[in-house]
Amino acid sequence: MNRDTEIALLKRCQALLESRTTEVMSSEVTSPIDRYACSRRFAAEMSDIFRKMPLIAAHASELPEPGSYKALEWLEDFPLLLTRDKEGEVHAFANVCKHRGGKLAEDGEGCSRRLVCPYHAWSYDLDGSLKTVPHQKTGFPEFDLAGTRLMELPSAEAFGFIWVQRDGEGSLDIAKHLAGLGTELDHFAPADHVIFDQQVQDWNLNWKILVEGGIESYHFKIAHRNTIAPLFNDNLSIFDEFGPHFRSVLTKKELRDLKTLPEEEWRIRICANVLYSLYPFASVLIQPDHFALVNAIPLAADKTRIILQTLVPKDSLGSDNAKQHWQANFDLTRDTLVEDFLIGEQIQKGISTGANDAFTFGRFEAALARFHDITEERLAAD
Ligand code: FES
Ligand SMILES: [Fe+2]
Repeated sequence: MNRDTEIALLKRCQALLESRTTEVMSSEVTSPIDRYACSRRFAAEMSDIFRKMPLIAAHASELPEPGSYKALEWLEDFPLLLTRDKEGEVHAFANVCKHRGGKLAEDGEGCSRRLVCPYHAWSYDLDGSLKTVPHQKTGFPEFDLAGTRLMELPSAEAFGFIWVQRDGEGSLDIAKHLAGLGTELDHFAPADHVIFDQQVQDWNLNWKILVEGGIESYHFKIAHRNTIAPLFNDNLSIFDEFGPHFRSVLTKKELRDLKTLPEEEWRIRICANVLYSLYPFASVLIQPDHFALVNAIPLAADKTRIILQTLVPKDSLGSDNAKQHWQANFDLTRDTLVEDFLIGEQIQKGISTGANDAFTFGRFEAALARFHDITEERLAAD
């Protein structure tokens, strides 16, 4: 985020604080309940949205050097294999051997010059090319060893993350995909961070309930009264759209200090958390001295795997004090999100009761309405 944007956003928030109001849309909006629980709709969201967009599959530091790889169960149980080849290039492959389909690498991370299938030991370079086939001359004299490569998905390393797209071919233009947010994100140097700690957990709720909970601050004072509520202003946040993505500014109590501070000392990271909601799901939450990535793999209409990663500056892990500081931050973010997820699971259970035909978004829950507009447009386009 450049300095002009930072000042402009802070002025907008300060004006709202002083006038004791917040930004609103022109009317309330309803969201039909079947958006959250229908398996046919879920399948359409996967095929028409998730499969067609670049998604964050890892932070770049998870493949720290040539030879690094990471294997995981990804969208729709797709076995994904991320690698960094000897030239330092990142690749995304199906984690599936070309012989008879063995799973090449167990889920997890590692570093190796070659990946060897555990079934009959066909081996692959980390650029995906098949290198050796035991007993090739006898068994596979006609097999095109030189022309065989693992199935590759479009991928890119950009703005500190590794992006993968399930469907499609060719390269990914992440700057274009981020519609202007890329350079802004770059100001926070996401590529110069490393993962301090992470939590991966499955929750019984629809992915859109989680998105909704992330883009309004109406609930902070109540739902987060035991965690972050004392740090934030009640229901005082703003958002802007960049293509399908949002930037939200969730203001903190320090916003009131701007009145007495010269403008050159204004810092948005002190007065607010800046949240980049990268459609469809990933959230990059910029905090005062580090950031968090909240990412998801939707598993079913009522089940979502959530990945929380706390990312801290590369050179900040030296002392025990620093580690305690990052641990406290990780714990607070995790505990806050768990509050959201538990409420979300209750909402999901409530959906099947038939108690509501629709949810209602208040005028200051405009980001939720826009998020659903964008999703509906994408589903209708197909
Ligand atoms: S299935 Fe991989 S070597 Fe046979
Ligand atoms: Fe929340």
